[in-house]
Amino acid sequence: MPTDQANTWASVALLSPVPDTPQQVEVDADVLAKASALDALRVVGGNALYGRVTISGAKNAALPLLCAAILTRDPVQFTNVPVGLADIKTLSALLISFGVTVGLRSDGVAILRADNIKSTSASYDLVRKMRASILTLGPILAREGHAEVSLPGGCAIGTRPVDIHLGGFEKMGAKISIENGYIKASAPNGLHGAKVELPFPSVGATENIMMAATLAKGKTTIQNAAREPEIVALANCLNSMGAAISGQGTDTISIQGVEQLHGASFEVIPDRIEAGTFMLAVAMTGGKIILEKADIEPLESLVTLLQEAGVSVEEENGFVVVSRDPAKPLKGTDIMTAPFPEFPTDLQAQYMAMLALCEGAGMVTETVFENRFMHVPELNRMGANIRIQGNSAIVRGVEKLSGANVMATDLRASVALVLAGLVADGETTVNRIYHLDRGYENLVDKFRNLGAEVERVKGQ
Ligand code: UD1
Repeated sequence: MPTDQANTWASVALLSPVPDTPQQVEVDADVLAKASALDALRVVGGNALYGRVTISGAKNAALPLLCAAILTRDPVQFTNVPVGLADIKTLSALLISFGVTVGLRSDGVAILRADNIKSTSASYDLVRKMRASILTLGPILAREGHAEVSLPGGCAIGTRPVDIHLGGFEKMGAKISIENGYIKASAPNGLHGAKVELPFPSVGATENIMMAATLAKGKTTIQNAAREPEIVALANCLNSMGAAISGQGTDTISIQGVEQLHGASFEVIPDRIEAGTFMLAVAMTGGKIILEKADIEPLESLVTLLQEAGVSVEEENGFVVVSRDPAKPLKGTDIMTAPFPEFPTDLQAQYMAMLALCEGAGMVTETVFENRFMHVPELNRMGANIRIQGNSAIVRGVEKLSGANVMATDLRASVALVLAGLVADGETTVNRIYHLDRGYENLVDKFRNLGAEVERVKGQ
């Protein structure tokens, strides 16, 4: 290895054993998507869950963190990365297309080095697979002075525009145009600090603007910023790379721009949505599970509801122990999704699956996305009694669900159907599970280890 390269690598506190140079990953998201597009999960209901499950690093934290590596020429190392997820591979492919060297190791270590950005354009082909690709726009624009990212377009859970991201960049001096389906952003003399007030505390817009502002001239203030733990993690990582960010976790974030960022080593926080999903699973099936590497603090909104429903959630010796006596009825409560710290939209479908089996009736109101009830007709096919009224769903508890052939069109809806299958009478086939591969690492093995009867089969 040439000495200068060796020195660059030495500037990062690398864990051992790590390869001398990052290995370029072989990523073909298309192959991955095709392989799993027709896969299904066969679930046989009725088993209570018992045992231990290790919670993976958070997908929604890892994606922006990998994008942050664009902001420095130095290598950046992440640990606890959910490297098995399709979304991580898709983003890696996009970063590689910019010229970033990406090494993903099976033990969750990712090493990225953006010493030579060769392209500033994110193609439709890669962006359409994953909306989070838009998070490359801020870092590329800040570093190179221009960027071109395909518009992500709509998705199953709503139109999901990116106007809040673009409004922030414009405030920071970028010229933005939309041409042939691409967002073209330029700031030839660099971005400057600005006061940016978000019309809605968008998670992605907060992250994108915060990353871009680290290299802007002067101070940026983001008002009505999102407060999700993934934003705090991103800000902490950027600070360890030399950024000057304060106020993360509150609704006002200040970023004092710096000349350049440097390499760092950072651990991805645990996936609170995966942890919440397992908590809801055991609430539904009964049993007792121990969550390892989980953090319940950011799940307070769910934990309170689970305890009210009759589920025990305790922290013991650094683990989270969740149990429910299957003989006792569950009592459901109304929920309304909203930005953190309120109830997360990413747990709404799973909570509704639990509510379907609770005593009495409950109402689920979705305020974050306008079309996030695709799981309702599928749950009803399994015997649930749910009626949609505007952005609310009224759930009348039933005694039993019954196995059926079902299909979901997004990640969290898919896992909600798996949870329903775990308690339904007979066999449930959840079709087109590539959504699950986007966001849940080793889901089948994790459930099987807890005693569930789940297997991957060829679907329709
Ligand atoms: C992130 C999460 C996603 C989660 C969501 C809300 C990642 C990779 N994904 O998505 O799992 O469900 O937060 O907690 O972290 N909006 C606009 N204009 C914009 C941006 C957003 O109108 O420019 C709207 C969206 O259409 C949506 C709402 O704001 O209705 C919330 O979106 P946002 O918080 O930006 O979610 P994402 O960052 O896309």
